[in-house]
Amino acid sequence: MDNGKVKRSKLTLRRGLTVIGLLVVLLLAYKFSIIPNSNDIAKGQGIKADSGAVALPTPMRTGEVSLEQLLTGRRSIREYLEKELTIFEVGQLLWSAQGITHPRGYRTAPSAGALYPLELYVVVGRVEGIEKGVYHYDAKQHKLVKTIESDMRTSLARAALSQSAVKNAAAIIVFAADYRRTTKKYGKRGERYVHMEVGHAAQNLFLQAVALKLATVVVGAFNDDKVAELLQLPVQLRPLMLMPVGKK
Ligand SMILES: Cc1cc2nc3c(=O)[nH]c(=O)nc-3n(C[C@H](O)[C@H](O)[C@H](O)COP(=O)(O)O)c2cc1C
Repeated sequence: MDNGKVKRSKLTLRRGLTVIGLLVVLLLAYKFSIIPNSNDIAKGQGIKADSGAVALPTPMRTGEVSLEQLLTGRRSIREYLEKELTIFEVGQLLWSAQGITHPRGYRTAPSAGALYPLELYVVVGRVEGIEKGVYHYDAKQHKLVKTIESDMRTSLARAALSQSAVKNAAAIIVFAADYRRTTKKYGKRGERYVHMEVGHAAQNLFLQAVALKLATVVVGAFNDDKVAELLQLPVQLRPLMLMPVGKK
């Protein structure tokens, strides 16, 4: 072999090794979650998960009541019957707020830059088929992941100016947000977008509650730090809204 051929084959060998090296690095990065796997997104965001995962029933995509009737019927209700909600109702409410409705991951509520800063939690008190405790809603898999074992409704109510709606609800949906997901793209203006988004999601849930003949109210009066501490929210999440839900 002449010198030129030797040099070329050495170059080819080096390139081949570089490509293999890159592939190995990519595989290791994936395995050790440097590249987030969609199933691990919640974990990657530091959301504490107990072993208890609860699969939610497939959400219903049709209804019998018109949007106009739902809008007319929407009213804040702060008193609830002692009855249980069903797991289907809880799943449907969560889906209406943040459910995935498109193969690309778009959701029931709009999001600036499709960055989805919201995370939903459910404080469960009386729900058939779900033990009392606090659960994180995994929108991608439409399931709940338990984060706290005990009934937190009374303490949560205390952190919300002792509002009886929070104490007596069958469940409370908690809207929290990771501002950084949006501000890293939009800067300070991103904060405004996050607040708009919680409004979109909450209104979806409100109208879904009306469609399911459930009672709810939007609660904005609470101590942020106390709520975050009680619910053991990951540091990057700030609570923005509570929606107590019950039967009427
Ligand atoms: C941002 C926001 C925060 C609110 N916070 C509370 C609250 O902490 N407690 C409460 O009982 N109602 C709260 N409400 C509900 C309003 O009191 C209610 O929407 C208003 O009285 C109008 O009644 P309607 O919702 O039945 O139309 C809040 C509403 C909004 C939009």
